[in-house]
Amino acid sequence: MTNLLTIIGARPQIIKAAAFSRAVAAHNAARPDAPVREHILHTGQHYDENMSGVFFGELGIPQPDYNLGVGSGSHGEQTARMIEGIEQVLNGKLADREGKCHTDWDGVVLYGDTNSTLAGAVAASKLHIPVFHIEAGLRSFNMNMPEEVNRIVCDQLSTILFAPTQTAVDNLREEGFFDEKRGFRAVVNCGDVMYDNTLYFSGMAPENKYGDYVLATVHRQENTDDAERLGSIFAALSKIAESTKVVLPLHPRTAKALKANNIDTSKLTIIPPASYLETLSLEKHARLVLTDSGGVQKEAFFLERPCIILRDETEWVEIIQNGAGILAGADCDKILAAYDALCGRKVVFPPVFGDGHAAEYILSTIRV
Ligand code: UD1
Ligand code: UDP
Repeated sequence: MTNLLTIIGARPQIIKAAAFSRAVAAHNAARPDAPVREHILHTGQHYDENMSGVFFGELGIPQPDYNLGVGSGSHGEQTARMIEGIEQVLNGKLADREGKCHTDWDGVVLYGDTNSTLAGAVAASKLHIPVFHIEAGLRSFNMNMPEEVNRIVCDQLSTILFAPTQTAVDNLREEGFFDEKRGFRAVVNCGDVMYDNTLYFSGMAPENKYGDYVLATVHRQENTDDAERLGSIFAALSKIAESTKVVLPLHPRTAKALKANNIDTSKLTIIPPASYLETLSLEKHARLVLTDSGGVQKEAFFLERPCIILRDETEWVEIIQNGAGILAGADCDKILAAYDALCGRKVVFPPVFGDGHAAEYILSTIRV
C-alpha cells in the first residue's frame, strides 16, 4: 500500500489533480494487490463554486478528504494558515471526512507554484515526509512574482522533482540539482499532466456558443495590482473588440481590480469564470488567445491556437520558441502589434509537452 496526500487549493491545481486521480483509479483497478491510497487535501485557497466546486464533478475528482477552508488573505496570512492545517493532517491531529486520522504517509503530491504548493512543501519537509513536486523546474527568473518564490522554495524541499519539459530539467541542472555534493534528488522529465487532461477531455468540450471571437483571460498579480498595466491591457482588448468579439471569463481578483480602478469593459463579452470543459471549448474555437495564465497559454498550444502572452516573460518558453506565441507584456501597442502579427502567421505546434501519459509515469515513479 502506498499512502499519498495530494494537496490542492487553487483552480489550476484542482484541474491538474484530475489526471493523477485518474491514474490512481486505473492502477487500483489493475493492481488490487498493490493499492495506492490517495487522500486529497483542499486548502480552501479558492472557494467560490465556479473557482473550485464545479471541477470536482466535471472532471471526476474524488471529493476532498480534508478542507482547511483557509480562504483569502495576504501571502503570509494565507500560507501560515495552510502550513498549520497541513501539519495537523500529516501528524494525524485532524480527521478526514470519515472521522479518521492518518500518520502513515509515504509522501505528499504538490502541483505548480501557488501558496498551497509552498505550504505543503514546508509542512511535509519539516516532518521528513517525501515531497513529490509536479511542475518542478519552471522558472520565469522574475523574483517579483509570488509564484517564482513559491516554486524555487518548493523545488529545494522536494524529494522527486517532476519536470514537465526539457527546459525545466535544464533549469534544475543549472541550479545544481544534479550535483552529487548536494545529495541525490531525483529529477524526472515526465511530460505535462495538463496535456494529459487536454487530450482526455477536449472531445467532451461543448459546442462553440460565440461564433467568431478571441478568448482573453487576465488574473496575474503583476497585472491586476498595477493600475497602469491593467488599464493598458484592457485598452488593447477594447480596441480588438472593435473588430472581433473578445470573450473574457473574469477571475474574481480581476473583477475587483477593474472595479477599484474604474476600467471600462463595456466593449468586451465578460462571462463568469468558466468550467473546465467550457474553457476547453472557448480555447478550441477561438481565433486566437490572449492570456497571462500559465495553464491557458499551454492549452492554447495543445489545441493549436496562437497565443499572445500578457506577461514580460514565460516559464513555457517552448511556445515562444516555436513561434506559436508572442510575449507582449502589458503594453497596449505591443499587444495590438502581436495581434496583427499572429493573425497573419502560419503557426506550428510540435509535441513538446510529453506523450499524454505524464500522470501514469509519475505514479509509477513514486509508488513504493
Ligand atoms: C492564485 C495563485 C496563482 C494562480 C491563480 C490561479 C498564489 C500566490 N497565486 O492566484 O499562481 O495563477 O491562483 O487562478 O497562490 N477570490 C475570490 N474567490 C475565490 C478565490 C479568490 O473572490 O474563490 C479573490 C479574493 O479577493 C482573493 C483574490 O481573488 O483575495 C486572489 O486570490 P488568491 O488565491 O490569493 O490568488 P489568485 O490571484 O487567485
Ligand atoms: N480555467 C477554467 N475557467 C476559466 C479560466 C481558466 O477552468 O474561466 C482553467 C484553464 O482551462 C486551465 C486552468 O484553469 O486548465 C488555468 O488556471 P488559471 O488561469 O486560473 O491559473 P494559472 O494556470 O495561471 O496558474
